[in-house]
Amino acid sequence: MNYRNPDEHGYYGEFGGAFIPEMLYPNVKELQENYLEIIESEEFQKEYQDLLKNYVGRATPLYFSKNLSEKYNTRIYLKREDLNHTGAHKINNALGQVLLAKRLGKTRIIAETGAGQHGVATATACALLGMKCIVYMGEIDIQRQAPNVARMKMLGAEVVAATSGSKTLKDAVNEALRDWINNPVTTHYVIGSVVGPHPFPDLVARFQSIISKEIKEQLLEQEGRENPDYVIACVGGGSNAAGTFYHFVEEKDVKIIAAEAGGYGIDSGKSAATTFLGTSGVLHGSKSLVMQTEDGQVTEPHSISAGLDYPGIGPFHAHLFKEKRAEFFSINDDEALKAAFELTRLEGIIPALESAHALAVLDQKKFNESHIVVICLSGRGDKDMETYLKHLGNNE
Ligand SMILES: Cc1ncc(COP(=O)(O)O)c(C=O)c1O
Repeated sequence: MNYRNPDEHGYYGEFGGAFIPEMLYPNVKELQENYLEIIESEEFQKEYQDLLKNYVGRATPLYFSKNLSEKYNTRIYLKREDLNHTGAHKINNALGQVLLAKRLGKTRIIAETGAGQHGVATATACALLGMKCIVYMGEIDIQRQAPNVARMKMLGAEVVAATSGSKTLKDAVNEALRDWINNPVTTHYVIGSVVGPHPFPDLVARFQSIISKEIKEQLLEQEGRENPDYVIACVGGGSNAAGTFYHFVEEKDVKIIAAEAGGYGIDSGKSAATTFLGTSGVLHGSKSLVMQTEDGQVTEPHSISAGLDYPGIGPFHAHLFKEKRAEFFSINDDEALKAAFELTRLEGIIPALESAHALAVLDQKKFNESHIVVICLSGRGDKDMETYLKHLGNNE
């Protein structure tokens, strides 16, 4: 079974594909026909790899987390995506896609963002590469991730509020898709996760796969073996998780754990735990698991973390779930907060709220003393300081 590569129509098992309005057909087809040839070309790779190294600051460290390891009596490594330029893994994909858009002759970039990290990463890539940038963001997210809104504006991007639905990530994607339909010739839509119509899930996973490529090299150097026993990552749409799992999904000895946002709890009506609550459906251009009512209305999600507040999941992950290749955990808001404070106090690292969901798995699953557990620390917590300060009293 091949978990990593979709078939020629973009399917991972029964999930994936490209469900798009006719107006987008030429754009998506252009991408489908050209993306692999362009991104695998020597010339593209030379420019991309040089930027990853000298601009983004890769390779990011694989940090042996001594204090956390002692507490949980296992061997924990943190993949420090928080140390990337702009503060999260999102830049790996944003830079790659803007470079690709340039080669496709596009002059205008649009993006959606939840936590604002993908918006900041895209605005950064556009500033660097001289492209016009428009970022769609839910009105609620504009309020709760204010520092990132300011950064996007300073970088020269226009931030447009999505005011429909729950005013969060799903609604921002809807607005971005609407824009793309209206501007199909000049514009490339830099999707921020492994969601959307084929080829986006594969394209984004390939750009993020640098994470697991580096983990293998770094673990070999530090532990004398390439494969850990477990890899853990949080899943919104699933791009940091896809990058963390990519080079391990075909390796049977590596167990894979995904952490979704449980919100107030999966039975609370305020959750974003798609594999627990979702059914098969089409959302934002691909078939996957979707939180929806019986008649197909998408359910409004909830998570304390804007980046995980999404009622779907990428088709790659839906397939891993269906095939039981990955184990899924639902982490509630309060559990993520507790894990964020714990990492901060034990290791002096303030994680993004999204990444804290991956850390919280340590409290729910028992690992052996000798297990090597790699957790993707997808981003830093600067953007979440207001939320953290609100909860400081309960977590001291
Ligand atoms: C730091 C961080 N981690 C994780 C995510 C979730 O996205 P994905 O599931 O695509 O990695 C986000 C989204 O904004 C984020 O900012």
